[in-house]
Amino acid sequence: MPYDMIIQGGTVVTASDRFVADIGIKGERVETIAPNLPADGSQVIDAKGCYVLPGAIDVHSHLDMPFGGTSTADDFESGTISAACGGTTTVVDFAIQFKGQSPRQGLDAWHKKAEGKACVDYGFHLILTELPEGSESQLDGLVDEGVSSFKVFMAYPGVFMLDDASIFRLLRKTREVGALTTIHCENGGAIDVLVKLAREAGERAPKYHALTRPARAEAEATARAIALAEIAKAPIYVVHLSAAEALDQVRVARDRGLAAYAETCPQYLFLSTRNYEEPGFEGSKYVMSPPLREPGNEEFLWKGLRTDELQVVSTDHCSFCMNQKALGKDDFSKIPNGAPGLETRLYLLHDGGVRAGRISLERMVDLTATKPAKMFGLYPKKGTLSVGSDADLVVWDPEKKFLITNKALHSKADYTPYEGRAVTGAPRTVLQRGQVIVKDNSFVGKIGGGRFLRRGTFKSP
Ligand code: URP
Ligand code: ZN
Ligand code: ZN
Repeated sequence: MPYDMIIQGGTVVTASDRFVADIGIKGERVETIAPNLPADGSQVIDAKGCYVLPGAIDVHSHLDMPFGGTSTADDFESGTISAACGGTTTVVDFAIQFKGQSPRQGLDAWHKKAEGKACVDYGFHLILTELPEGSESQLDGLVDEGVSSFKVFMAYPGVFMLDDASIFRLLRKTREVGALTTIHCENGGAIDVLVKLAREAGERAPKYHALTRPARAEAEATARAIALAEIAKAPIYVVHLSAAEALDQVRVARDRGLAAYAETCPQYLFLSTRNYEEPGFEGSKYVMSPPLREPGNEEFLWKGLRTDELQVVSTDHCSFCMNQKALGKDDFSKIPNGAPGLETRLYLLHDGGVRAGRISLERMVDLTATKPAKMFGLYPKKGTLSVGSDADLVVWDPEKKFLITNKALHSKADYTPYEGRAVTGAPRTVLQRGQVIVKDNSFVGKIGGGRFLRRGTFKSP
């Protein structure tokens, strides 16, 4: 029997090609991609009429994370089941070095959270909340262990925010060791003043979260981050870019030939400030940072996705239930920041991006699998379908109707920002390393079956 499994007759889609072929899987890897492979007793999955996509990669999740006076609703088990059911077979989650901890302690804590629970393969970036002068050498060993990207915040003063000097020292270090600095760009100091003024004026509603975090504060921080990276001669990756004027900063930098990269997220493509006007406390569902932007902003992001000003669509999955959001019932500044999204990314991008004619199917694969794999040291094991790659794949039925409701999803959050949105296109079967882990919207894999991925160093995509 030449193959353990054959994915038969589907349209294989990569970042660059689309063709009808069979995929022969042996053990955990793709062995052959060719037409009419002989079954000879292999297990066969009929993929006729479907696309066969590389398993998607989400390089921005927050699982089992203490934040905003509470902890995210999803841990590594529920979060990765949710990811798998939406066609994502790899997550790169943000481990945190809290103040007073060494980078190693932060990382060890996240290994413990994931081991025995993660249901898809996973890696870690490490969030640094302090980097005392002279401590940079502590990062060397981490890169050797496959943690080849770090995250710093220009927002959340007193919690996560790092000063410019520390960010600059990190950038110099990452350049030396081949790692990538990812960065949350919002001017935390200016935002804190605006929040204080709004509270003093008696403004308490969720919409003030957005009104106190202007797009300009994101654009300023984005320009500053890129300038620091330029001086350090290091690459930089802007996370969850939301505002057209922040994108302008990335475009200018890229036009100048700088290694400036950025991701956006579905919430900035499909939602807007209008959502904060929903009745009662519903607007709290959309309290995230950066906030949702004015209607019309999203068209600039779609253009950026088409023209490679933006390289990745990730989710920033950071899920809370409504009783957790209620911590800010009387004060918008106490609403835990974040929303669920791991499971809905491909549904939304396929329906609202590909079917709507905004991006090609190949570009969807590029943005959700290939580019993140290349930049975060996973390619070509992950992020494409080629001989020798891990057999992580999604049999995607482009005509299947799916109604997005929280009931149909698998996150432990008790709402989805996309409740009631009807989409066309859904995963039929999802494989991780040759094993079926999702069948018809049910997780059928093994709890804890995900493996830690030692990622390689940064490569320009
Ligand atoms: O609101 C958000 N984005 N929560 C998660 C933390 C972050 O800033 O990425
Ligand atoms: Zn962030
Ligand atoms: Zn985040």
